[in-house]
Amino acid sequence: MSDKEVLYEGKAKILYKGTRPNTIIQYFKDDATAFNNVKKGTIAGKGIINNKITELVMIRLSQLGIPTHFIERMSDREQLCHEVEIIPLEVIARNTVAGSMAKTFGIEEGLRLRRPIIEFSLKDDDLGDPLIPENHILALEICEQDELIEMMDMTSQINNFLRGMFAGIGLELIDFKLEFGRLTDGESGHFLVLADEFSPDNCRLWDYETGEKMDKDRFRRDLGGEVEAYQEVARRLGISLEVEDEE
Ligand code: TMP
Ligand code: ASP
Repeated sequence: MSDKEVLYEGKAKILYKGTRPNTIIQYFKDDATAFNNVKKGTIAGKGIINNKITELVMIRLSQLGIPTHFIERMSDREQLCHEVEIIPLEVIARNTVAGSMAKTFGIEEGLRLRRPIIEFSLKDDDLGDPLIPENHILALEICEQDELIEMMDMTSQINNFLRGMFAGIGLELIDFKLEFGRLTDGESGHFLVLADEFSPDNCRLWDYETGEKMDKDRFRRDLGGEVEAYQEVARRLGISLEVEDEE
């Protein structure tokens, strides 16, 4: 990868300039962080698993009619994507109370919500990604109102689809985080697409039978068994983890 131009290095991925115009390569690392980089570690093989889970989810969502930045997986750890202008918001969907919501409201984790919640955080590590209300997003011109509505609509559709998909393999989709970007298109200006990744790094999955956490909370909370949990999610999704081309 050393011959490619690094555009940005994040906590779990490196973005390189793509092999075609207006593309980027997402390279998935094994690095894991939590609590805004306070806790650091690695989960062996996580990059390969997250690359392949993201590929599967992006392909299924595009079949559903959700536009995404994903073009194709290039190798075990790399995928080619359209270059987009990321909207600096983390779009979070919740079906069941867990994590920061449980903490904020003093509710025990596991309460199933009457209806799913969609909320936003400002994507700003220095500020600790604070929760941001919709009127603040619009008043601060972080995105347009039609974009906000579209992000909520897409997130709701994605939630409905993925809840069913994971339920089919015995996993309860508790919550997840998405990022969206503007894709420039010569004819229509730009349109919104799902960007970034979808993996156990940015969602919560609980085994329906055992209640076991099968996501990054195993790392965040020092529960152990994170490698096995990520592998098990991939296995149930029918993803092969045979190494193809480790560099
Ligand atoms: P939270 O309960 O900590 O707010 O997290 C909600 C969901 O968002 C959970 O599935 C984990 C995911 N998430 C990220 O992907 N990145 C983050 O930085 C945080 C805080 C959460
Ligand atoms: N994005 C958070 C961090 O880097 C990780 C998390 O809790 O998912 O620390």
